[in-house]
Amino acid sequence: MASLSHTRQRADLTFKHNMSEARHGWLRLTPAYSVKLVKEILAAREGKLRVLDPFSGTATTTLSAASHGHSACSCDINPFLVWLGNTKLASYAEEVLRKTAQLAESIEYGKEGVLPVTPPPISFIERWWDPDSLKYLCRIKAGIDNIDHIHGQSRDLLLIAFCRTLIELSNASFGHQSVSFHKKTKTTQRLFWNTTGIEGAFLENTRQVLSSAADNPAGMGQVMECDARHLSNLPDESFDLLITSPPYPNRMSYIRELRPYMFWLGYLKEAREAGEMDWQAIGGTWGIATSRLSDWIPLESSFFSPTLGESLTAIANTNAKSGPLLSNYVAKYFDDMWQHFRVVSRVMKPRSELHYVIGNSKFYQCMVHAEIIFAEMLRQTGFEDVEIKQLRKRNSKKELYEFDVIAHRQ
Ligand SMILES: C[S@@+](CC[C@H](N)C(=O)[O-])C[C@H]1O[C@@H](n2cnc3c(N)ncnc32)[C@H](O)[C@@H]1O
Repeated sequence: MASLSHTRQRADLTFKHNMSEARHGWLRLTPAYSVKLVKEILAAREGKLRVLDPFSGTATTTLSAASHGHSACSCDINPFLVWLGNTKLASYAEEVLRKTAQLAESIEYGKEGVLPVTPPPISFIERWWDPDSLKYLCRIKAGIDNIDHIHGQSRDLLLIAFCRTLIELSNASFGHQSVSFHKKTKTTQRLFWNTTGIEGAFLENTRQVLSSAADNPAGMGQVMECDARHLSNLPDESFDLLITSPPYPNRMSYIRELRPYMFWLGYLKEAREAGEMDWQAIGGTWGIATSRLSDWIPLESSFFSPTLGESLTAIANTNAKSGPLLSNYVAKYFDDMWQHFRVVSRVMKPRSELHYVIGNSKFYQCMVHAEIIFAEMLRQTGFEDVEIKQLRKRNSKKELYEFDVIAHRQ
């Protein structure tokens, strides 16, 4: 393992370039908007700011803001992402990093002699990992579980390295919007490999994690487990700036995407729990969450606008069998977002600025102009100077764009 002083030296050399932001690469959710955009928004403002991201995800906004010396807070409904965000944002003393490096080495070489854990109950686990990789992961995970609780920060860092390793060794492809599997499984390819391609993967990932952990953010950041529809644990009038990328109305399930991490780390213990969590989150439809949509009835206080109404009617009236179900999906998505917009003004300071980075979407041939509906919702809840800025095309599909919907509190 590279000596810690070497790691430290590298970190010090690159400090001017805001090395702590390298933590963005610990685990990615393919952020819908880039670190660059957050930096641009922050750079346009003066002084130290209190920044809020009500839909934290992998804590991109919070980490960028904290790395630039601001004080940032974010919320997420997913406990795994709350843990991930706080691990990315924490400050690590040199002593902790040294201890983590030692622990990683003894886990990698199996010095503790602990029994491997049993594989998590992920369905079709053999599609994810070949037998050698699975055996290796079970052994490494047992080593991490065996760490004494007084080394909590080391344990967190090693779990990040473990998450990176489990994805690296998996047969899944994360290049697209959602997880898919390689057609030709790695098992077939591995017939010609030897297992030394697996051994050492955890140690290498720990090295990479430690090199960016050595550089601590200049400001403070925290992720709270909190529902953005209520924001109940946030104090009144406390934020100068909100930057967020909420879920898009595109049926993407973050629980589905994150399930390998969540099962291995114990945030999910059985498949049914995943559907339950998805139902609680905004925008996802997976498993039981999809079947519940057909019985869903809007709240009496639901938002209505002609733009939304036209989309809902058009989707429900397509010839496709699932038209009515998808129309309900879109209605529920905006119902949930409306609950958020109705409470967010309470936590923002007067004259504060808000940025919602959002993509439009298309169901069959019907467009859903989320950016226009967000702007309407913000105006109806009393925000001023609402404007929609087009940011970029989202993929090769015509008409799909990302927007920054900007608003100001009175
Ligand atoms: C588009 S992602 C955020 C991406 C993030 N900007 C990043 O860089 O990773 C949306 C996030 O909203 C979270 N979410 C969904 N429903 C929520 C709710 N009701 N309250 C808080 N967070 C929620 C999801 O768990 C997901 O992490």
